[in-house]
Amino acid sequence: MKKVTKAVFPVAGLGTRFLPATKAIPKEMLPIIDRPLIEYAVEEVVNAGINEIIFITSHTKRAIEDHFDQNFELEEKLLNAGKKEYLEKINRDIFSNVKFTYVRQKTQNGLGDAILHSEHLIQEEAFAIILADDLIINNPSCISQLIEIHEENECSVIGVNEVPENEMEKYGVISIDEPSSTNNSYVLKDIVEKPKSNAPSNLAVVGRYVLSSKIFKYLKNLEPSVGGEVQLTDAIKLMLNDEKVIGYLYEGTKFDCGSRHGYVNAIKHLAKEILDD
Ligand code: UTP
Repeated sequence: MKKVTKAVFPVAGLGTRFLPATKAIPKEMLPIIDRPLIEYAVEEVVNAGINEIIFITSHTKRAIEDHFDQNFELEEKLLNAGKKEYLEKINRDIFSNVKFTYVRQKTQNGLGDAILHSEHLIQEEAFAIILADDLIINNPSCISQLIEIHEENECSVIGVNEVPENEMEKYGVISIDEPSSTNNSYVLKDIVEKPKSNAPSNLAVVGRYVLSSKIFKYLKNLEPSVGGEVQLTDAIKLMLNDEKVIGYLYEGTKFDCGSRHGYVNAIKHLAKEILDD
């Protein structure tokens, strides 16, 4: 089986929950201490063996492209000022062999539509999808754990976590055959986007996926659904008719940095490490 070497980062969303901060700055560029949110997620996939990153972006997200590019003027100024130690911070060695590609999503038609914009770059191979606002801290990382389950089972794997009932309506929720889980792996029977009531389990989808390229076939025929958007969840639901998909209860601490609560908690968590140092 071919190794997972490509990751798609949909970053074209409007970041409404974080206005006004996200009026002129991409949500993904908000700092978690001294590094933008997006850098944590890119580091996570690169450390998991991924060397090709495809951003699905928009005209308001140019700063992301600049962040992963070289800034010769700044480098020269730092060198001339004898501040060599900052060069590794702005040009990280671990990213030096990574290929970054940017595809514009012209209208924000939803996550499913954003993913469809990467079809021509993926070919017939499984690939990772990362929603960078979910900052997940663990070693091994969440995406490494999902890739391992994908390699063992040769099927699509999506990250899930346990969520209290009153919060289920914010997430995609999976339905499973209760007792058949092994090693935190749950074979999906169904998946529902943001259930208003009667959620089929307490397992909610997080922003980490390893999907078969067959997902594009299902995405192509979708109509907008919840929120008037083309939902990735709907394509996964259709894929279940033909293929096995595993929900994996990963190990790690998740912060939803797209919300104020999660963002503040992420900073609090990482600040503690700095203050205790
Ligand atoms: P969210 O639902 O979190 O939306 O999208 P958002 O725009 O980022 O934030 P809010 O809810 O308005 O505050 C989930 C992921 O899908 C991407 C987002 O960038 C985010 O990574 N997305 C969403 C797109 O790339 N395109 C879209 O049309 C919609």
